Amino acid sequence: MSDSDQTNNSSASPSRSGAFDAAVDRRVERFTESISFDQRLYPQDIAGSIAHAQMLADQNILTADESQQIVATLSEIKSQLDAGTFELKTELEDIHMNIEQALIDELGDVGRKLHTGRSRNDQVSTDMRLWVRGAIDRIDAGLEQLQLSFLSRCEQDAEVILPAYTHLQRAQPVVAPHYWLAYIEKFQRDRDRLADCRKRVNLCSLGTAALAGTTLDIDRENTAKRLGFEGLVENSIDSSSDRDYLLETCFCLSTIGIHLSGWAEEWILWSTIEFDFISLPHEFCTGSSIMPQKINPDVLELTRGKSARVIGSLQTLLVLTKGLPLAYNRDLQEDKRPFFEAVDTIEGCLDVAAPLVAGAKLKRESIDSRLEKGFLDATTLMEFLIKRGTPQRKAHHLIGGLVKLATERTVTLSQLELQDFQSFDSSLDDSIYSVLGVTNAVAAFQSYGSTAPNRVQMQVQRWKSRLNPV
Ligand code: ARG
Repeated sequence: MSDSDQTNNSSASPSRSGAFDAAVDRRVERFTESISFDQRLYPQDIAGSIAHAQMLADQNILTADESQQIVATLSEIKSQLDAGTFELKTELEDIHMNIEQALIDELGDVGRKLHTGRSRNDQVSTDMRLWVRGAIDRIDAGLEQLQLSFLSRCEQDAEVILPAYTHLQRAQPVVAPHYWLAYIEKFQRDRDRLADCRKRVNLCSLGTAALAGTTLDIDRENTAKRLGFEGLVENSIDSSSDRDYLLETCFCLSTIGIHLSGWAEEWILWSTIEFDFISLPHEFCTGSSIMPQKINPDVLELTRGKSARVIGSLQTLLVLTKGLPLAYNRDLQEDKRPFFEAVDTIEGCLDVAAPLVAGAKLKRESIDSRLEKGFLDATTLMEFLIKRGTPQRKAHHLIGGLVKLATERTVTLSQLELQDFQSFDSSLDDSIYSVLGVTNAVAAFQSYGSTAPNRVQMQVQRWKSRLNPV
C-alpha cells in the first residue's frame, strides 16, 4: 500500500464531519496520532466519560436507560483494555476517539450521544488532570518511603561522626543523622510543593467543551464531584488552553530530580576508595565485564543521569506552551510524552532509592581513622575565643595561624602544646583542650537546627512523630 493510498482511509473517525471532501492522508494520520502514547490515559478517560454520562442523565439530557447502557459498555471496554484485548487503532487518532468509537460500534445512536456537551479539549484536560493527580499521590508515597529509609538510618548511625564539606573541602564535623535529616527536609519540601501544586491540578475542566462552554444545561459541579475534584476550572477558554498544572508539576519533579541527583553524587563519592565512607548494598551495584574487582554504583549514577530527562521535560513543556494564542492548539498534544517521561523517571528513581538508602552501611572505622584530619574543630576553637571576649575577626586570624603551625608540624590542633597556644594569646590556659578534637567540637554546635547529638536527637524525634513509621 502506498503512502497516499486512500482505500482504507480514516473517514470513519468520529471527528471527521460531513464538511470534508476527502479522507485524511495516511501520512497525516501517522503524523497526528497520539494513541501510541496517550493510551495510558484510558482509565481516566473512561472514568471521565462515565461521570459525564451520569451527569447528562441527572440533567435529563440523556435518559436513565441511555446513560446506563453507556456506563455498562464503557465498563466493558475498560475490562478489555485492562486485559489487553482491545484493539487500538491509529486511524482513530487518540484514546478518546478509540473509546468513543468502540462505544458507538456497540450501542449505535446511544453511543453517539456520549459526546454531548463536551469536546476533546476539555476531555483531554480532564483525563490529564486525573492522571497527574494519581501520579502526584504515587510520587508522594515514594518520597515518604525514601524519608523513612533515611529516618531508619538515624538510629543505626547515631554515633557516627562525619566530616561535612563546603567546596568539597573538609569544613565542620556533623553526626551522620544530621546528613540524613537534611535529605528528609529536602524531600519534605518536595512533598509540600507537590501538595500545593495538587490543589491547582485537582480542578475539573469537563464541560468547558471546545472553549466557550455549551448551550446545553449541563451541571459541571456534578461531574467534578463524581470525579473527586476539589473544584472547577472557572473560565472555559482558560480551561481549554491551560497547561500550567503540567508545568508546575514538572517543576516539582525536576526539583526532586535535583535532590536525588545531589544525593546520588555524594554517595558515589563516598563509595570510592578515596573517601571510603560507605558500602552500597550489592543488590544495588553492578559489575564490569572486564575488570573483575569492580563493584560499581550504577544505580546512583543513573539516578544522577536520569534527572537530566526530567529537567529536559520541563524545558520541553515550557518551550511548547510559550507563545500559544488562546485557546486549544494541537501543539498541546505534545505535552504528554515529556510529562509522562518525567513522572516515569522519578518513579523509577524513587523505587530504587529507598531500599538502597536503607541497605547501605557507613564504614565507621575508615571514617574514624581520618576524622581528625582537616581541622574540623577550628571553628569551635575560634568560637571558644569569641566566648572569652576576642573579636571574631581577630580570633579567625589567630586560629588561622595555629592551623598553619599545626600543618607545618603535621599534627592536629589538639596535639599542639599549651605554650603554642599561648604564643598566639598569652591568656589561654588548659581549658582550650576541652573544645578540641572532633567529638568535643561536634557537641559544641548547640544552636537551633545544628549538629550537636542532643540537638539532632530532638530533630529525629520530631520526624519520627511526623512520619509515624510503623
Ligand atoms: N489528542 C489530542 C491532544 O492530546 C486530543 C485533543 C484534540 N482536540 C482537537 N481539537 N483536535 O491534545
